[in-house]
Amino acid sequence: MTTKPTTTIRIDPVVKRKAGKVFDEIGITMSTAINTFLKAVAREGALPFDINTHHPKPKAAPRNAKLNRAFIVKKDEFYTQYEDIEKEMVKHRKAFKGKRVLCNCDDPFESAFFRFFVVNFNKFQLNGLVSTCYADSSLAGREYPLEGETGAYKAIVESVPEESLVRPDGSLDLEHLFSLPDNCLEHLVGDGDFRSDECKALLKEADIVVTNPPFSLFRDYIDLLINYDKDFIILGNMNATTTKEIFPLFRDNKLWYGESIRSGDRKFFVPDSYPMNASGCGVDENGKKFIRVKGVRWFTNLKTDKSNTPLQLSCNYTPRKYPTYDNYDAIEVGRTQNIPLDYHGVMGVPITFLDKYNPEQFEILMLANGNARTNVSSDVLTEVNYRMHPEDKGGVAIINGKRSYARILIRWKSK
Ligand SMILES: C[S@@+](CC[C@H](N)C(=O)[O-])C[C@H]1O[C@@H](n2cnc3c(N)ncnc32)[C@H](O)[C@@H]1O
Repeated sequence: MTTKPTTTIRIDPVVKRKAGKVFDEIGITMSTAINTFLKAVAREGALPFDINTHHPKPKAAPRNAKLNRAFIVKKDEFYTQYEDIEKEMVKHRKAFKGKRVLCNCDDPFESAFFRFFVVNFNKFQLNGLVSTCYADSSLAGREYPLEGETGAYKAIVESVPEESLVRPDGSLDLEHLFSLPDNCLEHLVGDGDFRSDECKALLKEADIVVTNPPFSLFRDYIDLLINYDKDFIILGNMNATTTKEIFPLFRDNKLWYGESIRSGDRKFFVPDSYPMNASGCGVDENGKKFIRVKGVRWFTNLKTDKSNTPLQLSCNYTPRKYPTYDNYDAIEVGRTQNIPLDYHGVMGVPITFLDKYNPEQFEILMLANGNARTNVSSDVLTEVNYRMHPEDKGGVAIINGKRSYARILIRWKSK
């Protein structure tokens, strides 16, 4: 029987696991390691290493320089403002009750998405929150508590205390959050790519996905969400709307714009290393760099109370006011508000129509743009009696020999 006294100490589970791995490799037990440390203290009458408050800057590996160039090129490192997230999420509050939310392009220490759902976890009655970050992000791993490592990790939150986690300086007390037995912060095995098997496994378990995914991978990202049949509210650029992957989702009523951002630009925070030579760049009152991006919208498949509000219209058809296209059996309607109440054929409306689109009221047939000939099925092209025109560059609607803007061809549903 041992005569040595036993001592119980509290250790952060993540630190314990990581230190345990090191001791395994060296071939000693945790107890031997702690005893060695205590003996050194006793022998030297001091801590056997220096303790100070200076945190050495992580050394930038040459690979990081390449990655920094990559994110500048791909414009993937934009961080959404809390206020923008809040304005949209409150519109969907009912949909979150009892649901598990996944933010899968979000460093929990940096992302306002993660912060929003932690702060509102109980108010929204969430069932869980999972956030994963990408190893190649310029921010990953720079914060406590996975010190020293810059790999990807996942934060799993099953419960949030009722008392506020917001510290006086405005930061979240994540050490406390992750010290709660239901919650954890762990390294991922891979780099946190949303397409990886381990991230897909988290996606499978989630009910609603909310994030601002990398702009350069937006189409792949939506494709994955649709394949996994997930509800989602994600930020993206309107430019994506007219692509051959995204437009059919709007047409088939599987995707629509969120409610809170209609026009103008949005401010996104960017890493300190972001070059400040682009227009719209600036530094806010807290010294954080930002860039203003135009055409940003929420893309969602969650219905809200406003989703089925019919468009209120008052115009009547006259052939003079609504010319017929040279290459489609359809009339030109230059403004959504001017859709005639009494026209029973096909009508070409601006892309902004999607903001008002109510599938109970209208049917979308196709997008008449330069890719129509390749992207639209021959059945639909036949239905709208498309004729090739020397000026139409692949299917743009032509009025009196002149190309119009891209148009969505629609018709009234119940007429
Ligand atoms: C536009 S930023 C938005 C970050 C955060 N969602 C926000 O809004 O604050 C996109 C994020 O996705 C990360 N990312 C890039 N490629 C990724 C990938 N293949 N899988 C997962 N995340 C990725 C980037 O590192 C970046 O942090």
